[in-house]
Amino acid sequence: MEFRDHIRVIMDFPKEGISYKDVTTLLKNGEMYHAAIDELVERIKPWKPDVIVGPEARGFLFGAPVAYALGVGFVPVRKPGKLPAQTVSETYALEYGFDTLEVHADAIHPGERVVVVDDLLATGGTTLATANLMKKIGAEMVGMGFLIELAFLKGREKLADYSVFSLVEY
Ligand code: PRP
Repeated sequence: MEFRDHIRVIMDFPKEGISYKDVTTLLKNGEMYHAAIDELVERIKPWKPDVIVGPEARGFLFGAPVAYALGVGFVPVRKPGKLPAQTVSETYALEYGFDTLEVHADAIHPGERVVVVDDLLATGGTTLATANLMKKIGAEMVGMGFLIELAFLKGREKLADYSVFSLVEY
């Protein structure tokens, strides 16, 4: 069975015309969740990251187990107002309006090799903002790995400066 067979597609969620990719159906299947993490780990290991970074919230579900398996640290990127110490923030444009992400200013030692892990690459806005945050705090951005890529949204074009892979493409 492929990962794709365990991703539930819900039409018209959260609004009409959107075909939502629901990863909860993969996550609840122990064998598939394990296999997806293993595959991400195998692809990321050659990049020799010092740290895995994951954006809230679904990025935690994939990034943290990858970091654990590689024996490296995990850094959460969060929505505003959640992190208690000094933060650095990055604001990026959405289809309508703006969003902001934050990370602790001291989350990375300068020069550390960072890989971003998330469940989904759509427009690439979240990942580019995360990469920009990493650069602001002195990290070396190595690459990005995703379970799912919505290739028709061309997120990869936004991330052209980086190595990007995904396990399932739509
Ligand atoms: C989703 C997903 C990615 C992002 C991808 O997160 O988990 O982080 O959108 O979209 P983009 O490539 O267009 O930026 P969401 O903002 O829905 O937050 P959640 O993980 O907390 O559900």
